[in-house]
Amino acid sequence: MPGNGLLVLASETPISQVDTDSVNAMADHDDRDLSLDLEAFDLDALRRRKGVKWSWVDPARFPMWVADMDFPLASAITETLQDSIGRGDVGYPSGEEMEEVREAYCQRTSSLYGVRFPSELVELTSDVVQSVYLGLLAYSDPGEAVVVNTPAYPPFFSAVSETGRQLVEAPLRLGADGYALDLDQMESVIASSGAKVVILCNPHNPTGRVFSLAELEGLAEIASRHGLVVMSDEIHSDIVYPGSRHRPFASVSEEAASRTVTLASASKSFNMAGLRCATVAFGSSELKRRFDAFPEHARGGLSVLGMRATLAAWRSGGPWFSRVLGYLEANRDMVAEVLGGIEGLVHFSPEATYLSWIDFSQLSMGEDPSELLGEKAQVVLSPGPTFGEPGKGHARLNFATPRPLLSRALERLAEACQAS
Ligand SMILES: Cc1ncc(COP(=O)(O)O)c(C=O)c1O
Repeated sequence: MPGNGLLVLASETPISQVDTDSVNAMADHDDRDLSLDLEAFDLDALRRRKGVKWSWVDPARFPMWVADMDFPLASAITETLQDSIGRGDVGYPSGEEMEEVREAYCQRTSSLYGVRFPSELVELTSDVVQSVYLGLLAYSDPGEAVVVNTPAYPPFFSAVSETGRQLVEAPLRLGADGYALDLDQMESVIASSGAKVVILCNPHNPTGRVFSLAELEGLAEIASRHGLVVMSDEIHSDIVYPGSRHRPFASVSEEAASRTVTLASASKSFNMAGLRCATVAFGSSELKRRFDAFPEHARGGLSVLGMRATLAAWRSGGPWFSRVLGYLEANRDMVAEVLGGIEGLVHFSPEATYLSWIDFSQLSMGEDPSELLGEKAQVVLSPGPTFGEPGKGHARLNFATPRPLLSRALERLAEACQAS
């Protein structure tokens, strides 16, 4: 597969320390959010939210499931949305605006994560899941095998089945320190199934693992030996806690980059999943050509609000993000402390994401503990079995909520577990 000469740089700068001015020459240093009070919340206002996280659940229950956060938006995002709406400027997007988003993504990825994509090798889509579907249509044929590490983000399963591909599970290996890529097993299922595509999720949802350089290098060698395309979903790459560092799969080597399609978005880090804007970065013009074979109009147009909010987030959202990341880290530690005190639970503190993956199987709560906990604890978790076979007996908890709410929800969970 011919490479495109991506410049792989060595960057050590965690996002929380990034000077947004260096990410984009047009950046304003927006410090209005430095004193943001993330602890303040209005439960009624949260319950009035129309998005799925709050509206779908019984108001007596705490929704700690789908990956949205319960915090206010970054000021720059609110301002840009209000400005567009105030001026009635919500018509079709211009090519210049799209190019601005692509260029901002390239500069940011280079500055933060050490891989420089040329903007002509970046496409915009509405969302990452759409990109996964398009990538499967582009890089595999109907009936062909696609490898997914399980437990896995549930839409990967529907993407594989709804595009008529064959799911091949490569379970993560569970050791004393948590989950890891099981490279031997991956190579063996790739060889036996003839898979040509792997969907990698790094940082990993639901386990919160940030894969190490050694794991990524191992996978890159396998990809090279078997001529694979790696679709690397890196949507959680910013939400990485101190002690870990995100490395894009495309940064492992020029060879790895040449077979990688990197999927990203500002939507998780800046909490705007409903605004619809994502990036797809190709490691070669051939990969882009194959992806682009799918007609542009069938993909659907892009949201101008999503693009502008993304630019505002990347240019001016650094201070907001630093505050939120620090807050999430303290929430993560609180979750680990409370869960660590409940006999029979198995939980490894996530290195990334605001999601905790919890094994309740020693508590005899059945295959789907979220059902019982929804009733007994009045806390809504994501059901483990939807993450694949290794998810039985597990549930996923979203801790991106003000700490007073998190603490009440954890108390209720602890009581329900102790009573079981
Ligand atoms: C790993 C992963 N990929 C993709 C998504 C969804 O991204 P989008 O809303 O851009 O489709 C999520 C949402 O939580 C996710 O965790």
